[in-house]
Amino acid sequence: MQHTQRASPLLISLRNGLAVTLRPMSAFDANRLVSFANSLPASDLLHLRMDITQPEVVRQWVRQLEENTTATIIAEADGQIAGYAILHHHQVTWQRHLGEIRILIGPAYRGQGLGRQLAREIFVLARDMGLSRIVAQMMPEQKGAIATFEHLGFQPEALLSDFVIDRDGQTHDLMIMAYDVTGLTEPTV
Ligand SMILES: CC(C)(COP(=O)(O)OP(=O)(O)OC[C@H]1O[C@@H](n2cnc3c(N)ncnc32)[C@H](O)[C@@H]1OP(=O)(O)O)[C@@H](O)C(=O)NCCC(=O)NCCS
Repeated sequence: MQHTQRASPLLISLRNGLAVTLRPMSAFDANRLVSFANSLPASDLLHLRMDITQPEVVRQWVRQLEENTTATIIAEADGQIAGYAILHHHQVTWQRHLGEIRILIGPAYRGQGLGRQLAREIFVLARDMGLSRIVAQMMPEQKGAIATFEHLGFQPEALLSDFVIDRDGQTHDLMIMAYDVTGLTEPTV
């Protein structure tokens, strides 16, 4: 399955009127993403699936882009990274019909509809790739993120004990939510 990301950047407007550009991530974004990650509050870093403050982790992310197992949309405002959305999928396993979504919005840009617009882009991308369900993984204590994903139409699917270990070595439960993109029509979110 090939990712069919938009070839040209998409200009959107947030609820506060801020103009944001959505475009595919490239290898040239790696250093700026590490800087973006290092500007995040500790509470955000604790909940990140990958510790993207580490350059090697971002290099691995770039390799996944090149291997086509991951697509990433970067949101940019005033030349700064405002956030990103990832669609990750396994092409050959028995979960090849699933995609995993990860969204991170910089604290200054939250609550303005950017997460929703990025999710919509990922849903359309997933549908166009022939995927049927989008999975989101988070810790139960991420109440705001869970509420956000419920607003986006995700349903809770499973709660797995101690399935996550954070960057401080602490284990946490893992909550899995899912959204069906079969028959998705635009605009849905
Ligand atoms: C979760 C996150 C992606 C939301 O991004 P955002 O740009 O603030 O979200 P939006 O402004 O687009 O809001 C989307 C919907 O969720 C709702 N929402 C947003 N934050 C919420 C909160 N803390 N509590 C309840 N609802 C919330 C909004 O009202 C909106 O619904 P509506 O459009 O029906 O009004 C962002 O807070 C974030 O990056 N958090 C840290 C990383 C994370 O936890 N990612 C999720 C796991 S992959």
